[in-house]
Amino acid sequence: MFETLEPRPNDAIIEIMQKCKADTREHKIDLGVGVYKDDTGETVILKSVKMAEEMWCREETTKTYVGTTGNQNYCDDMLSLILGADHPVITEGRVGASQTAGGSGALRLGAELLKVVAPDATVWASTPTWANHIPLISSAGLKMGSYPYYNRETLGVDFEEMLDYLDQNAKRGDIVLLHGCCHNPTGADLSSAQWDRLAPFMLERGLFPYVDLAYFGLGRGKAEDSYGLLKLIEILPEVLLAGSCSKNFALYRERTGFIAAITQTSEKADIAKSQFGAIQRKIISMPPDHGAAIVTRILRDESLRKVWEGELDDMRGRMRDLRLLLSEAFNVQGGEAMSRAVKDQNGMFSTLPLSPQQAERLRSEHAVYMMNSGRMNIAGANADNIPRLAEAILAVL
Ligand SMILES: Cc1ncc(COP(=O)(O)O)c(C=O)c1O
Repeated sequence: MFETLEPRPNDAIIEIMQKCKADTREHKIDLGVGVYKDDTGETVILKSVKMAEEMWCREETTKTYVGTTGNQNYCDDMLSLILGADHPVITEGRVGASQTAGGSGALRLGAELLKVVAPDATVWASTPTWANHIPLISSAGLKMGSYPYYNRETLGVDFEEMLDYLDQNAKRGDIVLLHGCCHNPTGADLSSAQWDRLAPFMLERGLFPYVDLAYFGLGRGKAEDSYGLLKLIEILPEVLLAGSCSKNFALYRERTGFIAAITQTSEKADIAKSQFGAIQRKIISMPPDHGAAIVTRILRDESLRKVWEGELDDMRGRMRDLRLLLSEAFNVQGGEAMSRAVKDQNGMFSTLPLSPQQAERLRSEHAVYMMNSGRMNIAGANADNIPRLAEAILAVL
């Protein structure tokens, strides 16, 4: 049976991780893999998570199945956190949600639902986008296209080009995949004013928003990070939202996410939820519970919630501080655009204007590891190595 099987090439990120691991130079800087790291380069378990786990370990009474739409308390808690508990779509019951196996599970389940309701639609993704968006969504059988987004010279968003392109190429009923905040891989987010224009544009053109909010809380703050999503919900009748707690609760391997359909009526929300359950049943039957139970334990306990909010602020603050330091270090001749960009951009990632050859030189000559596309994870740096990092990047330009 397996004789004809050929190996698949490694993911680009796995290759970079392996090269970095094998590098014995002590001063190496690992900006490759997309996980948050603290000052010591570790991806630690949050204190709030550890405390909740200890409590949950004593309190949990069963390991029986959670059901095909998973832990509904978790979905409710995350939606209240992101939208506000008194948001009309919540009070009117216009959200049908399912817990999923991480944000990736959410994106796939959302795509499967879109395939049911809009089999001929094209899903438009930004150029560039997270490396797994296209495989995850197209595997559900949906056609995909790309709209212009990041300008590798200005290191900002080509917003007018994005609108023009969608205007010319997307047809009514098509789906636009949007990064809610902390765009991966560029860190270049839409401004509030741009969200304010995008929402009525999409309404007028009959385009449907599919929002990926994998980094909620890690950009500028909770209110700023949900601005775009809230604007879309305000202006458009329906929105599909894929969320993840991998980064903001640092629950990566616990595979904790949710998919939510914001609909026009509570009846439609119930139907969307039943669809999520039926589709998830066919793929993985039901999601794992542990991460979702921990998030709910934290969000429903005032003191644990405070601890988590502090930890989220610390993660976000550390990345912002590193961005400011790197921006200052880039602020020399030839580094001006990068200096502006890393300061303005959000979250873990920025994409620098490097060629694959320059990225390779960074690895071989300076022990600095980032993707060949120029994507770096700022959380992999620290205050001590930022000056050397900036020098290395400027040296290979
Ligand atoms: C933009 C984006 N969406 C979704 C995800 C999915 O995250 P996970 O499946 O680990 O929750 C990621 C993870 O890196 C991401 O960067």
